Amino acid sequence: MSATTDTQSVGNEDYRDAGLQFPESFVFGSATASYQIEGAANEDGRGPSIWDTFSHTPGRVVNGDTGDVADDHYHRLEQDLDLMKSLNLQAYRFSIAWPRIQPTGRGPANQAGLDFYSKLIDGLIARGITPVATLYHWDLPQALEDEGGWTNRETALAFEEYARIVGEAFGDRIAVWTTLNEPWCSAYLGYASGAHAPGRTEPLASLKAVHHLNLAHGLALQALRAVVSNDPQFSVTLNLHALRGEGPTGPEAVRRIDALANRAFTGPMLHGAYPADLLEDTKTLTDWSFVHEGDLENIHQKIDILGVNYYSTTLVRVWSGEGERESADGHKAVGASPWPCADDIEFLPQPGPYTEMGWNIEPSGLEELLLAVHAEFPDQPLMVTENGVAFDDVVTTDAGGAADGAPAVHDDDRIDYLRRHLTAAHRVLEAGVDLRGYFVWSLMDNFEWGYGYSKRFGIVRVDYDTLERLPKDSAHWYAELAATNRIPA
Ligand code: FCB
Repeated sequence: MSATTDTQSVGNEDYRDAGLQFPESFVFGSATASYQIEGAANEDGRGPSIWDTFSHTPGRVVNGDTGDVADDHYHRLEQDLDLMKSLNLQAYRFSIAWPRIQPTGRGPANQAGLDFYSKLIDGLIARGITPVATLYHWDLPQALEDEGGWTNRETALAFEEYARIVGEAFGDRIAVWTTLNEPWCSAYLGYASGAHAPGRTEPLASLKAVHHLNLAHGLALQALRAVVSNDPQFSVTLNLHALRGEGPTGPEAVRRIDALANRAFTGPMLHGAYPADLLEDTKTLTDWSFVHEGDLENIHQKIDILGVNYYSTTLVRVWSGEGERESADGHKAVGASPWPCADDIEFLPQPGPYTEMGWNIEPSGLEELLLAVHAEFPDQPLMVTENGVAFDDVVTTDAGGAADGAPAVHDDDRIDYLRRHLTAAHRVLEAGVDLRGYFVWSLMDNFEWGYGYSKRFGIVRVDYDTLERLPKDSAHWYAELAATNRIPA
């Protein structure tokens, strides 16, 4: 968001408060995504997704890792539900794999796919855990990509049909529906830089994808609203970039990247229009004629909650044209840029400390971002739908484990990260923002997209040889938080 450059001073304050109390209605949960944890890629009628194709293409994912087995969550559902219960989770944010429901992205529902999610939802409810479902966390059926994927308007129409199917199947039990997770990544990493599936490097395609994802969101929301029978909340999750500007060209660079990263989504979804400056900035690439009459009305739907994912900040300025252009935007470097029409913008390295992803740890960025979103959309309730950290965890059998000699992960660094970001969230609440909840990414270590299994984000460790789950110290800490709504000491 753009209202960030003048609030940098909060970055100097200490965010390590303990004992802060959140309101009782504030929800603490954890998040995962289908392809990252389920495995069982070829079972029970699931069709291939773009991530199956991508991960099986040599050179795309670190170590050649794939989601074929992942955490084997598909076969360990009951155990994982018990794990969530043991961690006192109040809510669980999961995603539904479109190719389990419609193996080719179209046509009748695959009953086995519906049955799996039905069991998951019932298992959550039986344990007192609120189900928060995302329709699309990046696993597009490959058959739809073969027809153009998100560059093809028909994909948005297919998504509407898929939304209707899952809305009819689970629309009596889901508490919060989220249409899309981080359409920024789907569009720009999928179609411009190629760091994510389907791995295309066509700047124009990425802007078409932006629009068709926005359209998919609006159509799916209407389809869900028409068929659900309980009284759920509707949402979308965006990875809004917390932008900071460097030097005299900082504000202009922030404006440009804010348009591509943030307002390309919040504009049509929440204001009913694409920002004029975005259209102007990208006019050498497209006249946006893929936006048809009526599309903006379809996209501009009331949402009950705006989900925000936050990990770190982004520092930009306009490139002087001299020397090497910096491109440290935090996204996997693969040669092509994820930023169409922004070759003259520099993404500068930022001060540490850093996570295992190389991302800077900056809790004040979460505060700035939520305050900026609130300033632009004062009536919009918000939720932190992802926040968390990858570190190089070590398993020890020192005293201090559950029992002497029992394995443990003393991830004090992750606890510190969570504490600081929860403190930032609490400050946002105190500033009067209607923030409804916080979901830690992630429940357990999993397939971290282009990085495969090399980055561990879980509060629960997964041993990829035995698939055993081991709650890290952060999981015990988070369990106390979720039981009391108070940041533990
Ligand atoms: C987000 C994704 C999530 C996970 C985290 C680390 O961009 O939504 O699936 O990979 O980053």
